[in-house]
Amino acid sequence: NHLQVAIDGPAGAGKSTIARIVADKLGLYYLDTGAMYRSVAYKALASGISLQDEKAVTGLARIIDIRLSHNDRQTVFCDGEDVTSKIRDVEVSRAVSLIASYPGVRNRLVELQRQEALKGNIVMDGRDIGTYVLPDAGIKIFLTASASERARRRYLENIKEGKMVSLEEIRSDIEKRDVVDSQRKFAPLKPAKDAVILDTTGLTIDEVVAKIIRIIRE
Ligand code: C5P
Repeated sequence: NHLQVAIDGPAGAGKSTIARIVADKLGLYYLDTGAMYRSVAYKALASGISLQDEKAVTGLARIIDIRLSHNDRQTVFCDGEDVTSKIRDVEVSRAVSLIASYPGVRNRLVELQRQEALKGNIVMDGRDIGTYVLPDAGIKIFLTASASERARRRYLENIKEGKMVSLEEIRSDIEKRDVVDSQRKFAPLKPAKDAVILDTTGLTIDEVVAKIIRIIRE
């Protein structure tokens, strides 16, 4: 039986940063499931498919070829195109929650996620990993932080990447995304009943990583 670490939580809680480091330190696979939903949203926008057209977006999700490298850069290829940076654009961030609410899109991506989990010990981050994708995961963490701290973290990330979006805009975008993600019918964002809830407000990355590694080793 493989070790499965599920890390869920709202936007900007630091899931992917933390999950990547934990995976690295413990020698586990890492899968960023948000990158998969972002890839579908990116491809829909790039091919001029209306985001409201559930049938068309679902069809797209069924044929799209998404490849996530397990190297430290976490390169994402979508139908052969390197979309690593593009899937983080603000247009994609604004589009992703709608397409992620479509059950057909989720079914397809969850199938791919469960296949990845068969490969070995894994850390997976997302919104529904502990509740739906890997309900039997041995470790479930729900990472949160205050809305202003989450917005500030995303803002600083954007600055590093040379993307200029105001703090107010980022805050409003992530709050809207959290509402859609937690109110959708199919596998909404919420802590699993057996998840450890970790509020990271005011904690450094190293402190959060240390807490999670302690939980895993217990
Ligand atoms: O984690 P990240 O912010 O990149 O996720 C982008 C979006 O993808 C989320 O806001 C959510 O709409 C969707 N998502 C999801 N289920 C997951 C991971 C991401 O619905 N497991």
